[in-house]
Amino acid sequence: MIQLTISSDGLIKSATGSELLEVFSMTDEELVGLPYAVIDKEQLEMGIHTRIFVQRTGDTIPVQMAVFRKNGEWMVWAQPLLGDKQDELRLQASEVLFQSIAYVTSCGDPELKAHVQRVGKYARFCAERILRWNTLDAKRLELAALVHDVGKITIPSVLRLKPGELDHDERRYIEQHTERGHHVIVALEQRFAKNALWMMDQKLLHFAKDVTLFHHENWDGSGYPTNLSGTDIPMAARVVKMLDVIDALLSHRVYKSPWPWRKVKEQVILLSGTELDETLVKELVLHEPDFLRLVEVTHESIPSVEL
Ligand SMILES: [Fe+2]
Ligand SMILES: [Fe+2]
Repeated sequence: MIQLTISSDGLIKSATGSELLEVFSMTDEELVGLPYAVIDKEQLEMGIHTRIFVQRTGDTIPVQMAVFRKNGEWMVWAQPLLGDKQDELRLQASEVLFQSIAYVTSCGDPELKAHVQRVGKYARFCAERILRWNTLDAKRLELAALVHDVGKITIPSVLRLKPGELDHDERRYIEQHTERGHHVIVALEQRFAKNALWMMDQKLLHFAKDVTLFHHENWDGSGYPTNLSGTDIPMAARVVKMLDVIDALLSHRVYKSPWPWRKVKEQVILLSGTELDETLVKELVLHEPDFLRLVEVTHESIPSVEL
């Protein structure tokens, strides 16, 4: 915790805290006597704020601050958000954005809306239980899974929801939702790079780019859009691919009714080594009781919608 006292003429009267150097790149001796505006151009404002400080190195650091008055002087208590805390803050901001993207993508398509939410929950389970990723990476995979079909926003619903067989051109057009989704995330990244890069979790963007582009690749290289195969397909995309297939089989589609879990499991095992990563399928089967419980709870709270 950093504590600053600012005198009525706006000068820093005292500065204490072991993180002073880390946040301001200045020692207490350097800070005392300087105008407060040197470190915070927003000046003093009573209340609790999150501010971004630009360090001497040019790096930015988010800081939570409490600003109040005591005995005619301004007191500033600041808590820098370092390491995991900083990542948590970025993920919280990113979650709002990714949930909004998922919402907009699936407007007018309640089954797509439910599908991406369910796949997100399954992805988090796989990240935590199968891949044994840490909590933040599991959250990142959940959010990336939420936007895996964002490219569908560019596909007219008359085509997306068309019952019956699609011709070659229609199929090709729908398949483009992978590249188009990837473009959406890249465009988002570029906008944040211009205005507010500190707010965006870089690893999440990385996962989201992998998942949007590669979630229809097959383990044997027969998928689309790039025919990537095996471990060349990023892990995040391999997981979402498996869960995308599972959720589609368990749910209503314009061309099929929901399948029971027993039949879905048989199909997933059949596809392992060709469409799906064999190791992931094996691991999922090992965790079947817990996964099935999650599937049941999730389908109850986010049911599949017949269109
Ligand atoms: Fe897709
Ligand atoms: Fe999907």
